Amino acid sequence: MTGIDAFPDMDQPMTDEAPQRLRYAMVGGGHGAFIGAVHRHAIALDGLAELAAGALSSTAEKALASGRALGLADEHNHGSWQALLDAELKRGPGERVDAVVIVTPTDSHFPIAQAFAEAGFSVVCDKPLVHTGQQADALVATVKAQGGVFGVTYNYTGYPMVRQAREMVRSGALGAIRKVVVEYNQGWLATALETTGNKQAGWRTDPARSGIAGALGDIGSHAENLVSSVTGLEIEELVADLGALVPGRALDDDASMLLRFTGGARGVLVASQINAGMENDLRLRIAGELGTLEWRQEEPNRLVHHRRDGAAEILTRGSPWLGEAARRAVRLPSGHPEGFIEAFANVYRGIFADIRARRAGSMADPLDADYPRVTDGARGVHFIECAVASSAARRWTRFEQAN
Ligand SMILES: NC(=O)c1ccc[n+]([C@@H]2O[C@H](COP(=O)([O-])OP(=O)(O)OC[C@H]3O[C@@H](n4cnc5c(N)ncnc54)[C@H](O)[C@@H]3O)[C@@H](O)[C@H]2O)c1
Repeated sequence: MTGIDAFPDMDQPMTDEAPQRLRYAMVGGGHGAFIGAVHRHAIALDGLAELAAGALSSTAEKALASGRALGLADEHNHGSWQALLDAELKRGPGERVDAVVIVTPTDSHFPIAQAFAEAGFSVVCDKPLVHTGQQADALVATVKAQGGVFGVTYNYTGYPMVRQAREMVRSGALGAIRKVVVEYNQGWLATALETTGNKQAGWRTDPARSGIAGALGDIGSHAENLVSSVTGLEIEELVADLGALVPGRALDDDASMLLRFTGGARGVLVASQINAGMENDLRLRIAGELGTLEWRQEEPNRLVHHRRDGAAEILTRGSPWLGEAARRAVRLPSGHPEGFIEAFANVYRGIFADIRARRAGSMADPLDADYPRVTDGARGVHFIECAVASSAARRWTRFEQAN
């Protein structure tokens, strides 16, 4: 059997009518920005939505130039997110964008997300969701009151082998979970890069823009979400040790912590940006009574299953024997690598499926609407606050889950 023969049909189902493309606006992601372009590429992969409006940068001049370069007509190209919101509200409900994507640094997430959610727009926001638990709870309340879609781009949840791990853990293939180890190690902040004019390093190490956490917020939030979304385990308490290991840095660039989950499982979480030479080494290990799973972001197409009473298996993306959630997230036959953008696109596919279903007055199939919600983002913010408090107090701290 060739890879092609073995490949399940993952294309969109054939229908008589071509579904109308959704239209989205983007805030942030202009010239010189990092993740905004990744969002656009990921959305373009499935062709389910198109960029229809924007306020793409923090200065009006750069925002307008960025929008023009992306082909936005003047009436949809704005110098600020407030101008974008005003212009959208002047359009009739059927003329407005279907979603607003927020890819600005964290300090502006709350006002932008709150304003658009309150006005009834569906919103997609990158992580960490906002700066404080209070803001997070307010946003959750707004989204619940409005009943709109709100996705948080914890993009690692979109990898097929992460979804496979989730299905295996949750179906009991590992038995009761005993231990979870998640590490996100990067090296790009091993020197004081923020003093060289690097924009991304600049805001991430500035408490006014990044909030109370550095590495913990930037990548520890991904680690927390990965554990939570794959295992479903709830953190009951944690003890954290945060440090700024590059002299002069105001926020943590290194975080280590121990976790205790409801039900007795234990965990270790590391989020560090000072591992000189390392790239994006996010890795997850989940040990249950019957076996252990291992996954690494830098080799995302493989999932290793160590069995207690048998040989270890390497599960590969695209194999016909994967579970339904993983198979639906696959785009190419096995052996052709998929990666970061495809995983991001899977998150977007879930968000757009939910927007479409709600428009049609129906409920999306949970396997279609498979994406992290505003409540996941809010839990991440509370997690950051809990870890910062634990580290400052140097003691075990209960993690109160607000929602
Ligand atoms: N999911 C991921 O894997 C991932 C990866 C990187 C960054 N992020 C998150 O994405 C967000 C952006 O990070 P980045 O690295 O792309 O930052 P960046 O500094 O590269 O880009 C930020 C962009 O937002 C614009 N901006 C700032 N304030 C604005 C405002 N008020 N209105 C309009 N535009 C504004 C800037 O001009 C810039 O274009 C952050 O929340 C970050 O944590 C997520």
